[in-house]
Amino acid sequence: MTKQRQKRKLDHIEYALRLGKPETSSGFEEIRLINDSLPGFSLGDVDTTCVFMGKRLAAPLLINAITGGHPAVANINKSLARVARQTGVAMAVGSQMAGLEDPGLRQTYEVARQENPDGVLLANLSAGAPPEQAAAAVEMISANGLQLYLNVPQELAMREGDRDFNGVIDNIREVTSRLSVPVVVKEVGFGLSRETISALYNAGVRYVDVGGQGGTNFIEIEDMRSGQKSSEGVRNWGIPTAVSLLEGLSLELPILIIASGGLETGVDVAKALALGTGMAGMAKIFLKELTDKSEEGLINKITGIINELRLVMLMSGAKNLAQLVKKPVLVTGSVAEWMIRRGIDIDKYARR
Ligand SMILES: Cc1cc2nc3c(=O)[nH]c(=O)nc-3n(C[C@H](O)[C@H](O)[C@H](O)COP(=O)(O)O)c2cc1C
Repeated sequence: MTKQRQKRKLDHIEYALRLGKPETSSGFEEIRLINDSLPGFSLGDVDTTCVFMGKRLAAPLLINAITGGHPAVANINKSLARVARQTGVAMAVGSQMAGLEDPGLRQTYEVARQENPDGVLLANLSAGAPPEQAAAAVEMISANGLQLYLNVPQELAMREGDRDFNGVIDNIREVTSRLSVPVVVKEVGFGLSRETISALYNAGVRYVDVGGQGGTNFIEIEDMRSGQKSSEGVRNWGIPTAVSLLEGLSLELPILIIASGGLETGVDVAKALALGTGMAGMAKIFLKELTDKSEEGLINKITGIINELRLVMLMSGAKNLAQLVKKPVLVTGSVAEWMIRRGIDIDKYARR
């Protein structure tokens, strides 16, 4: 089991990097911000900082869960953590089950905390993991929060994957109530629906990461691993990221919604923040930048995204994130069509 899990870590990195352009869109092209020709302040006045999990970040950005659990990936977590420290963004490690099963692998996760002692670091486990394991994962890296991932389509596409999803929401409730740090429930690229987010809120969860469709596709990755090919309908299963965000935001609950799944640019990040999300996460494009280039390359990528966010904030007339979320946003095309059918009001974004 442990050996298989370890090999899977390497497969996921190898195949994620081999994925072509996603077949489906995250929907951000249907979200439009409006030009403000008279912002009345200078670029130097724009403030992208925020507080997340009690700590100040340079911008609301998260290097999302990628890896850990094989000796060959320790260097990736080391580099990601160094970059997170230097750029002032948050980071999550990949699933820590391998480290819980084999203490010899703990270092592949611990290195992230060693490299970034004061930063925001999130632990990561399946949402089915019991409270004792959840607490141990947090302790392993002195995490500021714990991500619990939901990934039914991936498990089903995985030959060795789970087939029984009984009791997951009860487990999430239990973990959330017993843990000393906040729990973030995340998808891995299939999107959270309004109904799921509502159920998570009722279970005590206050942070959700929509992990929507339009970026890394784990059905394709599992197909590459198994040599089988899922049908097009199954391969394209999921809720586009922009749709999932609007579904979650429409509940108007006191929760922090994290945008992720196919985000690529500072413009995407600005659009997500303007709608009302509190953070933006990216996984594959950061991994690719690091492996194609270097730590320096990834630092440039992240500072480039923050700089673009800054430009878009100025062009929208928003000096800070609190002002950005009051700016008008247009939702058009297929994303708007989805909202109409689901009875979700999008005019309130366009007319504010
Ligand atoms: C190589 C790789 C490994 C991943 N491993 C995990 C994991 O262990 N736990 C998890 O919650 N998500 C994992 N993810 C999912 C990401 O955190 C993220 O939700 C997903 O890739 C969508 O974001 P993206 O389109 O920016 O890549 C992984 C992603 C990649 C690319």
